[in-house]
Amino acid sequence: MSGVILSPQHPLSAGLTSDSRLVRAYRGERSDATPVWFMRQAGRSLPEYRDLRVGTRMLDACLDPAMASEITLQPVRRHKVDAGIFFSDIVVPLKLVGVDVEIQPGRGPVFGRAYADAAGVAELTAIDPARLDETSAPITEAVARTVAELNTTVPAGSVSTGSTSSGSTPLIGFAGAPFTLAAYLTEGGPSKDHLAARTLMHADPGAWRALMDWTAELTGRFLRTQVLAGASAAQLFDSWAGAISLADYETHVAPASAAALAHVHDLAYETTDASGAPSTRSVPVVHFGVGTGELLGAMHGIGVDTVGVDYRIPLDVAVQRVGEGVPLQGNLDPALLAAPWPVLEAAVRDVLRRGEAAPAHVFNLGHGVPPETDPTVLTRVAALVHEASA
Ligand code: CP3
Repeated sequence: MSGVILSPQHPLSAGLTSDSRLVRAYRGERSDATPVWFMRQAGRSLPEYRDLRVGTRMLDACLDPAMASEITLQPVRRHKVDAGIFFSDIVVPLKLVGVDVEIQPGRGPVFGRAYADAAGVAELTAIDPARLDETSAPITEAVARTVAELNTTVPAGSVSTGSTSSGSTPLIGFAGAPFTLAAYLTEGGPSKDHLAARTLMHADPGAWRALMDWTAELTGRFLRTQVLAGASAAQLFDSWAGAISLADYETHVAPASAAALAHVHDLAYETTDASGAPSTRSVPVVHFGVGTGELLGAMHGIGVDTVGVDYRIPLDVAVQRVGEGVPLQGNLDPALLAAPWPVLEAAVRDVLRRGEAAPAHVFNLGHGVPPETDPTVLTRVAALVHEASA
């Protein structure tokens, strides 16, 4: 793909987010404090979210630009985190191209059927992924509204260096990686071990390949839409990649994840470097999965700037697996959010200390915020991260 320069109004091009703590960390620079955000920071842990969602189904909320935008902003205002993560879901692009899918509360994405064999895959891949470009207006509008709010009313934590004296909080766009989407599509819903996907990749590699290629194209377009509309970073969630071996990952998964990311790798913005000379930078990309200790090097290898680490591996060990020089994101065990404060505080400080082994660190959890989390604890953790790392 040939390079595309983001519009001058994009927060990265306009200099609003390019020197934020988050974007600087994603390019390997440390700032005045370690940036922090939480996976699933928007959602059921917040009473204001539960109030707003009454009577609206999950996917309807995702496709209502005013609601999706408001839900995205709630945790940024409340916790003073260094990024918003766009309120949506990995199955939204499937819904937008007409796939029969809903999200059942407490369960997750459920499809009208399972796409577990060649016939199912043929039916699914008969849909043209480019249809997304005709139906993604609610995404573009929700992102644009969110970014406009972040630019005007939610200042970034602080921006310490360079000529920029103020900035705004960046929005992170995201998409599901092809394997994680395939784990749901082949089962027709959530599963524990993702057996149907692991079977199909070996039983019918041709059908698997077709499923992965199609999914990569669709999810890549979804991610691109968010960045073009104003997101300052992109995270690819391969949540369930930890279910497969390194060999299977490299052969049957990594090429599709790389193809999905090709949809954002060509997006760039113009800026000036430390000496004031003009330079072009690409949009930062993060890659995360659960239980991926064996895969971290390969997950970095598909071409991402930052690797997200779950809570099973300390960050200083992750540095050795990913390779030195790579910024890391993570990795407090979400279970500790319910522990007594002294226990939690010690764990936060330990994560920060181990994160010093990487060139830059974005503090996060090792997976999503549990719905029953006391939100005042999250606010306190965010403040501690800023204070302890300053
Ligand atoms: O704050 C954020 O992190 C942004 C929003 C976000 C959601 N889904 C909203 C959501 C993000 C980044 C996702 C991604 C997502 N969705 C992933 C990858 C990240 C991960 O957690 O591993 C996956 C695997 C899904 C699929 C999915 N959607 C699951 C497993 C669930 C949870 C089911 C449940 O009720 O426990 C969903 C639904 C969902 N997506 C909710 C939210 C806030 C809960 C819906 C509700 O409030 O009822």
